Amino acid sequence: MPSLIPMPLTYEKLSNELVEIEKYTALTSFAEDMLSESYQITLSKNGFSIIAADSMGLFYARQTIKQLIDNSDNGKVPELKIEDQPRFQYRGMHLDVARHLFDVADVKKYIDMLAYYKFNFFHWHLTDDQGWRIEIKKYPKLQSVAAYRDSTLIGHYSDSPHQFDGEKYGGYYTHKEVKEVVDHAAAYGIEVIPEIEMPGHSLAALAAYPELGCESIEYYTATKWGVFPEIYCPTESTFLFLENVIDEVISLFPSDYIHIGGDEAPKDAWKKSKFCQDVIRKEGLNDEHGLQSYFITRMEKYINSKGKQIIGWDEILEGGLAENATVMSWRGIEGGIEAAESGHDVIMTPTSHCYFDYYQSVNESEPLAIGGYLPLDKVYAWSPIPDELETQYHQYILGGQGNVWTEYIHTFDQVEYMAYSRMMALSEVLWRGKDKSLTYVNFLDRYKDHAAYWESKGVNIANHTLDLKYIIEKGESGKLNVVFQDRLSNTDIAVRSPKGKRLLSAGEVSYEIDDTGRYTFMASNEERVGRPSIVDVEKHNAMACDITLEYQPSKTYEGYGALSLVNGISGSKEKYSGDEWLGFSGVPMDATLNLDTAIAINTIEVSAFNSPGQWIYPPKYVDVWVKTLSSKEFQKIIVEELLDDETHKLHSREFVIDQNDVIAIRVFAQDYGVIEEGRQGAGNRAWLFIDEIVVR
Ligand code: ACM
Repeated sequence: MPSLIPMPLTYEKLSNELVEIEKYTALTSFAEDMLSESYQITLSKNGFSIIAADSMGLFYARQTIKQLIDNSDNGKVPELKIEDQPRFQYRGMHLDVARHLFDVADVKKYIDMLAYYKFNFFHWHLTDDQGWRIEIKKYPKLQSVAAYRDSTLIGHYSDSPHQFDGEKYGGYYTHKEVKEVVDHAAAYGIEVIPEIEMPGHSLAALAAYPELGCESIEYYTATKWGVFPEIYCPTESTFLFLENVIDEVISLFPSDYIHIGGDEAPKDAWKKSKFCQDVIRKEGLNDEHGLQSYFITRMEKYINSKGKQIIGWDEILEGGLAENATVMSWRGIEGGIEAAESGHDVIMTPTSHCYFDYYQSVNESEPLAIGGYLPLDKVYAWSPIPDELETQYHQYILGGQGNVWTEYIHTFDQVEYMAYSRMMALSEVLWRGKDKSLTYVNFLDRYKDHAAYWESKGVNIANHTLDLKYIIEKGESGKLNVVFQDRLSNTDIAVRSPKGKRLLSAGEVSYEIDDTGRYTFMASNEERVGRPSIVDVEKHNAMACDITLEYQPSKTYEGYGALSLVNGISGSKEKYSGDEWLGFSGVPMDATLNLDTAIAINTIEVSAFNSPGQWIYPPKYVDVWVKTLSSKEFQKIIVEELLDDETHKLHSREFVIDQNDVIAIRVFAQDYGVIEEGRQGAGNRAWLFIDEIVVR
């Protein structure tokens, strides 16, 4: 079967005969009664025809043919019939060029890939705290000052202390270069949406024009990542500046949309500013959120007056949504639901399924990433329309978008590595209908061929198809098993365990883990060998016990559910991604462990992840309770305050218990609560991440 991504609506092999597609000239026609962007291809020994709804339908038919040839043996493909149409009208990919900058040639290569996988929007994130990347002739200091930073953070934001490379970094795209990119995209029917951030993420612009800020201080283009309190002040001169910027931007981009950002704008500066407080009073606004709404609405009116529409991140809902705005829902799906229910267009791009800067594998050899965990199968399983959204509002969900933020992506090679695999899965999400027969394993089989094709072209695509995906499950015997998921056909797994070496054949899907020690699993087939998956097990007194949780972890970080806390496997000490850490959002961790038999217990070890830059804090305190054969009721043994230590990613505490006949244990970890002003995520509830509860 030829490999197609996205999977067409219907695909029919007419016979097993192979024909050389390039020998034919297609008979092309347009059919007005077909849905926009749709096409049909028929290829047989008797002829080759394309029927398309419109020019985009014809373009996508040609991309499909290109895919067929690229993934064929010597250009020979089976006789076939394809009918295809996209499910969503907005199929987007984003690229952040503010944190790291990429050559025009590379941006064009990125667009080529969007075209190959039938995306139709390129969201170009052009301005941020760390750099302003688009030439604005009216404001030369945007080029000489805002386009550069003095230094760049080395390593991860959560490393302490912060270290910098001390090297000036920057650059920008000239009008000519911008036009080159826009024209390149237009040739594929791809609309380029420029993003000019306001009122936050504007530190680079303030460094160039400090009079646009609220305070008379010196501003510097940011040298590290995160959210900064310095934002535009809503003065007449700021609006004039932004209107002039927008005028130049509009002259370069034929796009119907202008993205105005709107995300992560802390209100500290506006709270302190007499000018801002006066505007709030004069305009009858409720508070600083009202002022943000006033800011965005004013810019919307201006942009609408130029015949363009605005898009903003979901924070633009706070304080009231501008009249015609389209919302990009990123912090989750709630913003998208709220906007759709009020009749606004929505583009879904939640961190949980669309942030391609997150780790795509838990393998230790993955390059440093911002955090999180978004494997290919999770992208593939996504649907942009939330289950909880009533049918009448589905029409407002225009589609979805993958985001590629580049704090930790320094080179274009790395963009390819992080973006392309998941972009392919997203393409299929945005094209396929609700056809449930398209399984992930089927996709993976096709992905394998595409990845091999791109590898042969020198593209740095993530080819993790032989990385083993597994879950830990409690078997009927009460013992734990590693159960392999979504495995490519014809792969064996080599196992090394404390028991010795074994080869699992393609039919064997699980392996018992019941001893302390290292288990290594490695898949291979005739074509290649996967990276090893390493599972380190420490057998302890509560391993595989019955466990219940009073509060559930967030769906985004739910691992294997409560079992993750007692499966004998600890989380990574470096990152909170993967299935061993459970992430609790704004609730405590309250676990009850019922032991199979009464036993003597010496200690209980509880660990929490600490990464304030990502809103992850250790618990305020931990209580440990035990129930013994004689006590019957739980008794509190330990109350321990945990220190808020900035320097370690892992907070581990071993509590001494020394009790006999213990039948149950309760561990309660109080979450940190609301993050203080001046820190990343200020005003939000902190996350609490807990891994194995080790009972010795
Ligand atoms: C965002 O990720 N700040 C939109």
